Amino acid sequence: MEGVTIVDHPLVQHKLSIMRDKNTSTGSFRRLLREISLLLCYEVTRDLELTTKTIETPMQEMEAPTLKGKKLVFASILRAGNGLLEGMLDLVPSARVAHVGLYRDHETLEAIEYYYKAPTDLSDRVVIAVDPMLATANSATAAIEKLQQSGAKDIRFLCLLAAPEGIENFRKALPDVPIFTAALDSHLNEKGYIIPGLGDAGDRMYGTK
Ligand code: PRP
Ligand code: URA
Repeated sequence: MEGVTIVDHPLVQHKLSIMRDKNTSTGSFRRLLREISLLLCYEVTRDLELTTKTIETPMQEMEAPTLKGKKLVFASILRAGNGLLEGMLDLVPSARVAHVGLYRDHETLEAIEYYYKAPTDLSDRVVIAVDPMLATANSATAAIEKLQQSGAKDIRFLCLLAAPEGIENFRKALPDVPIFTAALDSHLNEKGYIIPGLGDAGDRMYGTK
């Protein structure tokens, strides 16, 4: 599928299966999401550009590879995005962070914004927007369009589960934004939940249901 990378690493798939299980506890769900986010972060940053700088090892001077350009920006789509964000910050501690507060209206499934705070200089940074769930894609597209209005140009989207309907809507709205996901599920149900899915990611992370 054009512009969609499915991260089918066995460790990701194994951990995701435990997360899907309705008997998995809130604590285990959060820990697994953090662990998976390390592996997903590795994939979503695979093509970052490198430059070199001169360093001295204890043995001799060398031209050593380092990341090129300004610090990355991770944009967390609240609240469930924070479950991916925390692990990604373990891997890239110097990353800047944007927060986009959105919730889905349960009737219309439209994304309602309640908070937005982002670094001011998004235009010359790689921005990775994160949210575990891509269902209708209303939340992801609203968040990314907001980041674009703030100047972001080089954006990629990282999630855990995607529905085919969400991928289609996302591709129509944002044809140039690559999607990385651990799995592509079957479909959405009549309430806009991913099937087979894992339920409500925010509720399962924070024990709010
Ligand atoms: C969930 C999820 C996504 C959104 C996905 O958030 O974390 O943000 O739904 O659905 P969509 O693709 O149809 O927009 P929710 O609105 O439940 O908010 P929460 O993260 O605060 O629980
Ligand atoms: N949001 C969730 O948390 N889960 C779904 O299945 C769909 C949207």
